Amino acid sequence: MTDTAFEPRRIVVTGGCGFIGSNFVHHVVREHPGVHVTVLDKLTYAGNPGNIAGLPADRVELVVGDICDEGLVDRLVADADAVVHYAAESHNDNSIADPSPFLETNVRGTYALIEACRRHDVRYHHVSTDEVYGDLPLDDPARFTEETPYRPSSPYSSTKAASDMLVRAWVRTFGLAATISNCSNNYGPYQHVEKFIPRQITNLIDGVRPRLYGDGRNVRDWIHTEDHSSAVWCILTRGRIGETYLIGADGERDNLAVLREILRAFGRPEDDFDWVRDRPGHDRRYAIDSSKLRRELGWEPRHTDFASGLAETIEWYRENEPWWRPAKEATEARYRAQGQ
Ligand SMILES: NC(=O)c1ccc[n+]([C@@H]2O[C@H](COP(=O)([O-])OP(=O)(O)OC[C@H]3O[C@@H](n4cnc5c(N)ncnc54)[C@H](O)[C@@H]3O)[C@@H](O)[C@H]2O)c1
Repeated sequence: MTDTAFEPRRIVVTGGCGFIGSNFVHHVVREHPGVHVTVLDKLTYAGNPGNIAGLPADRVELVVGDICDEGLVDRLVADADAVVHYAAESHNDNSIADPSPFLETNVRGTYALIEACRRHDVRYHHVSTDEVYGDLPLDDPARFTEETPYRPSSPYSSTKAASDMLVRAWVRTFGLAATISNCSNNYGPYQHVEKFIPRQITNLIDGVRPRLYGDGRNVRDWIHTEDHSSAVWCILTRGRIGETYLIGADGERDNLAVLREILRAFGRPEDDFDWVRDRPGHDRRYAIDSSKLRRELGWEPRHTDFASGLAETIEWYRENEPWWRPAKEATEARYRAQGQ
């Protein structure tokens, strides 16, 4: 832990209208008065300005634009003392259907941001995923650590891995003041209906029988997005420059167990779903060892009861149908076209 904490006053949050970025913006507004947030978001299909609507205008400003726009990025970074980078193409299935926007946003966009941070000597935090490490066998208790070699499987995770490598090289070569975090699977409010948990929840609300990929034994390590936000803030303000921190909350569960938990919450029998063909390259197991973050920075997750976090998330989707309804039909049409 550094002796004196870094105290940012003006931060740029890229992708702040997406799922995890918008939860982070809410977290900062609630927990850190005095910090101004400029959200830079292109508002792709995954970005929704409604995610940050209602936050105080003197604390949060939305700039609609592309992180690949070097002039725009330069102007915003020049006026900030930290950048927290969430913007990405983030959905594995889409990356298999068309990898090109993943290369553009995840790799070129990161390049534009770190170059601007280098020019203006601005602190940079890079938000990444545990998927860069590939997967673990189901019958092995090993978990990912900061030392695990990179072994990405999908176009999505390979572009995230590439962006992590750019950041590491910019730290080493140019002295960029950066930290990196790799987090496990998030759940919580504002997650797009294309993702596993919201898709199951909204199908059940619609009376549609859920579908499960493969044999359902793929294990994900679930963390509530609010815990991800507190960890990112902790690393941004107290992490050591140049370091990577893994973020996880010991939430390993296979997809079948998660679906059964959702079915139970809806009062449905636990086998009330259909199996569908697995996606190519589907990783078997992710599991995070977050002891470095806990030991060095004293971070702890708060939402450790998955069943109650899930119940709150289901409640949120029930109460916020106008938020997810417009994206639902197009998302299901896309899945149907892919045979899922
Ligand atoms: N979802 C997870 O479980 C998870 C886990 C670990 C890490 N992450 C990482 O967290 C970050 C956010 O993930 P998410 O699930 O919230 O994604 P998301 O798809 O919900 O949101 C992405 C946001 O980025 C914006 N965006 C996309 N391209 C852009 C561009 N070129 N310029 C500006 N804005 C652009 C979108 O409009 C959207 O608001 C990603 O970097 C992802 O790799 C996600």
